[in-house]
Amino acid sequence: MPISGPGRFITIEGGEGAGKSTQLGLLAARLKLEVKNAGVVETREPNGPIRNLLVQGDRSWTPMAEALLHFAARAEHLEETVRPSLAEGLWVLCDRFADSTMAYQGYAQELGRDRVEALYEMVVGELKPDLTLILDIPVAIGLDRAMRRDITETRYERMGRAFHETLRTAFHDIAAREPERCVVIDANGPVETVHEAIWAAVKDRLNVE
Ligand SMILES: Nc1ncnc2c1ncn2[C@@H]1O[C@H](COP(=O)(O)OP(=O)(O)OP(=O)(O)O)[C@@H](O)[C@H]1O
Ligand SMILES: [Mg+2]
Repeated sequence: MPISGPGRFITIEGGEGAGKSTQLGLLAARLKLEVKNAGVVETREPNGPIRNLLVQGDRSWTPMAEALLHFAARAEHLEETVRPSLAEGLWVLCDRFADSTMAYQGYAQELGRDRVEALYEMVVGELKPDLTLILDIPVAIGLDRAMRRDITETRYERMGRAFHETLRTAFHDIAAREPERCVVIDANGPVETVHEAIWAAVKDRLNVE
């Protein structure tokens, strides 16, 4: 039985421009409004000084080096933010987590599931998100949204159409393998509609009154 302490750990995953950051903010606000005494921590990965190495510029890492950078950032993020917050009983909402490493490095950069799973076991161990929301959107629409969002953090955005199609399939595969943890959310609609679908999933899966 995976233990994540008395707090709740929710991760939001999906391709570029799916609306993860937008929806994370809305979910945090909804939890504070509707769940009595809910303390909410909003965070994201990759985090810290390693982030810029991964999301900016056009440096080409080997897939293993790239996965290790993600897990190095994750190791710090887990110890500094995620585990202490869960232990305090907070709701931790994380914009991307290990499923992104699995999709991007494991599938799209062809490192393979086994290697990413081995790194997960070493770095994250028993901890698992209580719920993972996978925002699904056609690639072209997501990339179009992402282009409007940011002009510096574009390293992954620029990886080409086939790469992003593989990512989308990868997230579906990840969800199908762990249906008790993952919910695929149709993110191709108005912000409010997507938010309501997310809120329904959170209430259903995490027994929110
Ligand atoms: N449902 C929606 N419909 C239309 N536009 C949206 C929707 N959700 C988000 N957007 C807009 O699309 C852009 C990307 O959204 P957001 O930054 O939330 O996506 P993201 O998944 O976090 O992207 P990234 O992977 O690049 O971090 C933003 O400009 C945002 O305002
Ligand atoms: Mg974002």
